[in-house]
Amino acid sequence: MLKRTSDDAPRTVMVAGGAGFIGSHLCERLLAEGRSVICLDSYRTGSEANVLPLTNHPRFTFIEADVCELPPIDEPVEQIYNLACAASPSNYQADPIHTMLTCVLGTRNLLAIAEQNGASFLQASTSEIYGEPEQHPQMEDYRGNVNCTGPRACYDEGKRAAEAVCFDFLRAGRVDARVARIFNTYGPRMRADDGRIVSNLIVQALAGGPLPIYGTGEQTRSFCHVSDLVTGLMALMNVKPNPGAPVNLGNPEEFTILELAELVRAKLASGAGLAFHPLPVDDPTRRRPDIARAIALVGWSPTVRLADGLVDTIDWFQSTAPLEKGVASSPSVYGMG
Ligand SMILES: NC(=O)c1ccc[n+]([C@@H]2O[C@H](COP(=O)([O-])OP(=O)(O)OC[C@H]3O[C@@H](n4cnc5c(N)ncnc54)[C@H](O)[C@@H]3O)[C@@H](O)[C@H]2O)c1
Repeated sequence: MLKRTSDDAPRTVMVAGGAGFIGSHLCERLLAEGRSVICLDSYRTGSEANVLPLTNHPRFTFIEADVCELPPIDEPVEQIYNLACAASPSNYQADPIHTMLTCVLGTRNLLAIAEQNGASFLQASTSEIYGEPEQHPQMEDYRGNVNCTGPRACYDEGKRAAEAVCFDFLRAGRVDARVARIFNTYGPRMRADDGRIVSNLIVQALAGGPLPIYGTGEQTRSFCHVSDLVTGLMALMNVKPNPGAPVNLGNPEEFTILELAELVRAKLASGAGLAFHPLPVDDPTRRRPDIARAIALVGWSPTVRLADGLVDTIDWFQSTAPLEKGVASSPSVYGMG
């Protein structure tokens, strides 16, 4: 049963994982659009700094909690975005069992709150559910090629199971659940030290290099600016009818890691060299979303080109303390997203 506030009252949206990189941008956008926002986060990989500018906002509430052990949520909510989960390999592999529980139990717990409130639900899934893809670009109907016992399984399989739970709630008519399969996203507020490819290269270039390249650098990724992604998440949450199937959200422009490194060097006028390292276990070699479904059913496609989107991302890292020269992050860098 939906406990609606009066028609003119701002509708309350919960963002689990709202103190993280993507979640904090989503909270900001929702507030700007007049919503009330409950941000729930354990600060496992997010930070207080990400939401600090929002804490005095009259329509913003922060709850520090783990989605595996949720406290009662008293305020009625109309929408729940579930972004709670460490997203970079170094972080999600630090406590793989907790990562799996976050994906499965955490998603189930949030779905239960959605059911109690009659709220719509959006699950932040990932292109990692495709594993090392045999199909390129990846369409949503592709069932993936995931190593279910490897070091990445806690995340890849956890996210696959979370999708399954969402569709079980949807099929049972219990929750209006939607699933976004997010591809590599970049932008301001990425952490400098969690080993994601874009932040890794920028931070090292700012520190004078060398830029770490894992494998040959010929592997590809498609990079979506966080502003585009947030637009896509909100469009998917609000579109009618519910697509009833997962939707890829990402930028289909595909780059090799070497091309990305070149772009970063050019933007920073950096003469830094490259340092080659072995490719991490199960790191996918290709990633590119087929976004035909997002275009057709959600009316969304990204607008920010990588060369443009790197500008505010680089500004962000320039305004925060760069890592020392040569302090490379974990080598598990490219698979996320
Ligand atoms: N960034 C990407 O490129 C990308 C790609 C694919 C999918 N995703 C998904 O999008 C979501 C957000 O990713 P992000 O890049 O902002 O990562 P992030 O690590 O910056 O944000 C995740 C947030 O979830 C919180 N969190 C983690 N476990 C929690 C738990 N058990 N209970 C409560 N809070 C918890 C963290 O503290 C953090 O604030 C994740 O679910 C991730 O799997 C991200």
